Amino acid sequence: MQKPVIEVIRRRFSCRTYLDEPIDDQRQRRLTEFLSANSVGPLGTRARFALIAATSGDHEALRGLGTYGFIKGATGFVIGAAERSPKDLEDFGYLMEHAILFATDLGLGTCWLGGTFSRSRFAEKIKLRREEIAPAVTAVGRIAQGPQTRDWIRERARGTDRLPAEQLFFEQQFGGPLPAAAAGAYASPLEAVRWAPSASNKQPWRIVRIENAFHFHLARTPGYGKGSVLFYLMQFADLQRVDLGIAMCHFELTARESGLAGRWVVQDPNIAKPDDRTEYIVSWIG
Ligand SMILES: Cc1cc2nc3c(=O)[nH]c(=O)nc-3n(C[C@H](O)[C@H](O)[C@H](O)COP(=O)(O)O)c2cc1C
Repeated sequence: MQKPVIEVIRRRFSCRTYLDEPIDDQRQRRLTEFLSANSVGPLGTRARFALIAATSGDHEALRGLGTYGFIKGATGFVIGAAERSPKDLEDFGYLMEHAILFATDLGLGTCWLGGTFSRSRFAEKIKLRREEIAPAVTAVGRIAQGPQTRDWIRERARGTDRLPAEQLFFEQQFGGPLPAAAAGAYASPLEAVRWAPSASNKQPWRIVRIENAFHFHLARTPGYGKGSVLFYLMQFADLQRVDLGIAMCHFELTARESGLAGRWVVQDPNIAKPDDRTEYIVSWIG
């Protein structure tokens, strides 16, 4: 990326109104190159991603790729498929978010779509195989500027709001405060997690630090996601696991840029959970 990743993270927002002009060839090429190398998640899942974009005067590539009116004017989509595996949704979230940050750095607008997209049409486009999942897609295009971009969905989802760090990050145990000063060099990766996008802006990530390890947990939102009637009827994927992968991406890219080395392991430290909606996902060992 050209700009510091923390700046790219702050700049990204869910763009739902785009200019009705194709993404120029150079940026299409750069994004496509990035996507073709974006093929293995941090937890080992194999995936593939493609940019489906209109060319000038020709929107044929996008025919049938509906977003139920939630997105205006997008001239491209990033579609992805991940092979089924125990951590497929987290890996998908990580890889797609990396692509989103790359597109943001190119100056493009993006919006995750895990609910409001025509699932079967997108699956057809990427020729989804039986052993693969495609839990979400991303709209991408040139950001429309001006008052017409006043974005009621963003306001409604209170997209600019984030939970305070005290409710998300802990020391030793759930509830144990982790002040920014105590987080030291990791204050910035944690802040990058706080600014991550999540389905319906629920921010389900909770991180407990014990010495040099950061243990990522998923605090499921009651009545939302896996097990809820809405998600079952609409055939939504377990999007809160995708959210955890997004958090991993923001954390790792920011840590690496700050010169903090580390690796991901799945080894439950068995920290006492505040409730049965909270589950362990993964740890960063610094
Ligand atoms: C996994 C996932 C799925 C999402 N699905 C949708 C969607 O179907 N439709 C939509 O308009 N926004 C969707 N969003 C965007 C979120 O509403 C948005 O990220 C959140 O409100 C935070 O706002 P921000 O992205 O502007 O920071 C999704 C986000 C994520 C991470």
